[in-house]
Amino acid sequence: MEAALWPWLHLLTLMCIFISGTLAFDTVRGTKPSITNDTLRDDPVGRLKVYVYELPTRYNKEVVERDERCLAHMFAAEIFLHEFLLSSPVRTLKPEEADWFFTPVYTTCDLTKNGLPLPFKSPRMMRSAIHYISTQWPYWNRTEGADHFFIVPHDFGACFHYKEEKAIERGILRVLRRSTLVQTFGQSYHVCMQQGSIVVPPYAPTKRIMEHLIPPSTPRSIFAYFRGLFYDVGNDPEGGYYARGARASIWENFKNNPLFDLSTEHPATYYEDMQRAIFCLCPLGWAPWSPRLVEAVVFGCIPVIIADDIVLPFADVIPWIEIGVFLAEDDVPKLDTILASLSATEVLKKQKALANVSIKQAMLFPQPSLPNDGFHQILNGLARKLPHHPSIYLQEGTRVLNWTAGPPADLQPW
Ligand SMILES: *[C@@H]1O[C@H](CO)[C@@H](O)[C@H](O)[C@H]1NC(C)=O
Ligand SMILES: *[C@@H]1O[C@H](CO)[C@@H](O)[C@H](O)[C@H]1NC(C)=O
Ligand SMILES: *[C@@H]1O[C@H](CO)[C@@H](O)[C@H](O)[C@H]1NC(C)=O
Ligand SMILES: *[C@@H]1O[C@H](CO)[C@@H](O)[C@H](O)[C@H]1NC(C)=O
Repeated sequence: MEAALWPWLHLLTLMCIFISGTLAFDTVRGTKPSITNDTLRDDPVGRLKVYVYELPTRYNKEVVERDERCLAHMFAAEIFLHEFLLSSPVRTLKPEEADWFFTPVYTTCDLTKNGLPLPFKSPRMMRSAIHYISTQWPYWNRTEGADHFFIVPHDFGACFHYKEEKAIERGILRVLRRSTLVQTFGQSYHVCMQQGSIVVPPYAPTKRIMEHLIPPSTPRSIFAYFRGLFYDVGNDPEGGYYARGARASIWENFKNNPLFDLSTEHPATYYEDMQRAIFCLCPLGWAPWSPRLVEAVVFGCIPVIIADDIVLPFADVIPWIEIGVFLAEDDVPKLDTILASLSATEVLKKQKALANVSIKQAMLFPQPSLPNDGFHQILNGLARKLPHHPSIYLQEGTRVLNWTAGPPADLQPW
C-alpha cells in the first residue's frame, strides 16, 4: 500500500507548490482548507462487483501483439482498463454475483501506417464479441446488455467514425444501445452520446508526463499556448470544416499576437512549455476532446475549452467550471479580450482549483494503477449507477435490440 502510494505523494508535493510562484503576483494565502467530501477519493472496493468475460485472444491480446503502437496512443485506455480489471479486487469470478459485466475487446487498435486509428472494422469486431458472449453465457440475453459496460475510446465513441457527419449518420452501434459506454467523447444533445455514458479522459502516458515535470517555481511566462493542427487538409480538402473552423479562426486571428504562442510544430519541450503557460488552449479537433485537456490539468495550465456543449471527463464529480475557461466556438475572435479581462484574482482562483491533486490523479491511467486514478473513477461511476433498475431485466425470450439494423457493412462477419 505504502509503496503504491508513493508515486502519488511525489506527484502531490510537486503539484501542490505549483500555484506558488506560477504567476508574477501574490499567491492565495491564509485560506483555510475547506472540509468537503471528496467523491474522487471514494474507494470502489466493496461497492460493486465486475465480471470480466474471457474472450478468445483474437479480440484483445493478439490485436495488440500485432501492433504495439496501440499501447501508447490516446485510445490505449481500452487495453489498460482490461488489465486493471483483471487484477482489481472488484473483479468477481462468479458471474451470478456480478453487478456489471465487462467485454474486453480492443476495437480501436487498428492503426494506419501513420498511426491513425480508423475504426472501420470496429463495428464488426464489437458485434462479433457480443454475439460470442451472448451465446456462451446467459447474462447478455437477460438484459440485452443493460448491465454490461464497454470502453469505446474512439473520436465519436460507439458511432465508430472520425468525421462527425458520418458518425452522426451511423449513430451508436445498435447492439450497444442498452449498455453503459465508457468513452472519451462527450457532448450534450449528440446522437453519439447516450444517457448514462461515463465520459473519461483520453489516455496520456503518466510516466512520460512525470519525467517532464519542471521546478514548480518556474514562472509562467507564456500567456496562451497551443500546439497542434489548425487545418487538417490531409483529411479534409476544405480544411475549414475541421474543428468546425474554430482552430482555423484561432490561427487567423492570433498568429501575430505576442500574447499567443501558437504553432503546428510539437517541440521536444512541449510538456515543459505547458508548465510555463498560464492558459492552454483546448479547442475541438475532429472530436470535441483531446489529450491537451489532460495535459493542461496535470501541468496546472488553465484549460481554455473551446468545444460547444462538450461533456468533460467525470463531470459529475469534477468542477470544470472552476478550473477552466469556457469559450463558445463562435467567440474565438474575442479570445484575447476574454482572457486578458480575467482578473489576477480570478486567474489565481482557477490555478488554486487546478492544484487539486485528486483532480490530477483522476486524469491519468498509470500502470500499475494508483489510488484515485482514472480507473478508480470509472469504477466509482459504475458504482454510482447501482442498483440497476428492475426494468432492465427482460422477460425470458423477450428481445428489444435489432441485430439486423444498421449499415450493411457493419453486418458482415468479423
Ligand atoms: C460528508 O459525508 C457524510 C456521510 O455521507 C455526511 O454526513 C457529511 O455531512 C458530509 N460532509 C460534508 C461537509 O459534506
Ligand atoms: C478537490 O476536488 C474535489 C472535487 O471537486 C473536492 O471534493 C475536494 O474537496 C478538492 N480538494 C481540495 C483540497 O480542495
Ligand atoms: C441468447 O439469445 C440468442 C438470440 O435470441 C440465442 O441465439 C442465444 O442462444 C441465446 N443465448 C443463450 C446463452 O441462450
Ligand atoms: C430490424 O431492422 C431491419 C433493418 O432496419 C428491419 O428490416 C427489420 O424489420 C427490423 N426487425 C425488427 C424485428 O424490428
